[in-house]
Amino acid sequence: MSELISNIGELMTQDGELGTLYNGAIVLEGERISWIGPSEQAPAADTHTDAQGRAVLPGWVDSHTHLIFAGDRTAEFEARMAGEKYSAGGIAVTMEATRNAGDYDLTRMGLGRVGEAVSQGTTYLETKTGYGLDVDNEARCARIASTVVDEVTYLGAHLVPAGMDADEYTALVCTDMLDAVRPYVSWADVFCERGAFTEEQSRAVLNACRAAGLGLRVHGNQLGHGAGVGLAVEFKAASVDHVNFLTDSDVALLAQSWSGWQAGANAGRGAGERGTVATVLPACDLSTRAPLAPARQLLDAGVPVAIASNANPGTSYTSSLAFCVATAVLQMGLSVHEAVRAATYGGALALGRETGLDQDGKRAVGTLAVGHRADLHMLRAPSATHLAYRPGMPLTSGVWRAGVREI
Ligand code: NIG
Repeated sequence: MSELISNIGELMTQDGELGTLYNGAIVLEGERISWIGPSEQAPAADTHTDAQGRAVLPGWVDSHTHLIFAGDRTAEFEARMAGEKYSAGGIAVTMEATRNAGDYDLTRMGLGRVGEAVSQGTTYLETKTGYGLDVDNEARCARIASTVVDEVTYLGAHLVPAGMDADEYTALVCTDMLDAVRPYVSWADVFCERGAFTEEQSRAVLNACRAAGLGLRVHGNQLGHGAGVGLAVEFKAASVDHVNFLTDSDVALLAQSWSGWQAGANAGRGAGERGTVATVLPACDLSTRAPLAPARQLLDAGVPVAIASNANPGTSYTSSLAFCVATAVLQMGLSVHEAVRAATYGGALALGRETGLDQDGKRAVGTLAVGHRADLHMLRAPSATHLAYRPGMPLTSGVWRAGVREI
């Protein structure tokens, strides 16, 4: 089955060759994009959708979420708004509730959260474990996560559970827990921060997970300056996430990590060794009243930036990337194009999904080009500028995931 969508106001492909088209059209064939060009040259298809001048962008690629959890932390949020600082301690509250929830409920809630994200234009999602924090519960959360999202990250190193010795727990994360989650995950992450895991413990986790064949990412520099960025670059992690507290040398390290990489004429198909993406989480920064991550400085230094929601019950209880994009434009100094790019292509780059079919047969996401996954987000507006111009408005009017219209 093929579908032609024509009469598109602004068609933002986020692809270096195609750029942005006006009065463009796109043809979807099964799960893939088979044609893009001007409306007047569009080929016939089995079905036809008239976009009536609305904008179409790649679906959002959310490269950082924590969607498998139970329980509620409203009281913690209220206390924070009354002046208390965020500390990672609240993770234990969610851990308790998650351990006590059954598989059916965790799956149902996870699917509900994915549905919320899709309803706002997200078409590709990563999520992390990290609220089980023992062997059985981490494996259970990883298994459930693998049934509800596209990519799963092992975050056993999220917090040391009360009563456990930090080094003993780290050793468990690196051995039995890793073995138990391994069938369900392709990434590993570590919360390298004062109050969570030290540099040495983080290094042990990254070494063990790399040896197990997992791609790496790091929660770093969220609550203060620290070793997160340095470790991420040293281990060639795909991303370092949060990055609120950066020194100039952290920024330079990240920029340097991309020095062997060429984006190429077509931004979706770069060549050479990839570096570490800086993932900024604007909704988390607002919800924790943290200094906003220096996205402008990172981009100016040549560091690829991803914008993600960090949807989780503690620091960012929203999966709205439209909200994150609006915040990046209104408060972080990004242009609309830069912010949309960071929440589409940037997310794909952080997940290693920016290129075409790879060895596991998955199609590129985050850009609209022939052969890429047909993940589209249509706005109830003529251009993406409206995302920042009309923040908070329900602008999503259509969502296609792998060629299937879901909204
Ligand atoms: O990415 N920083 C650590 N982990 C989550 C928060 C988890 C929580 O407080 O429940 C984050 O912000």
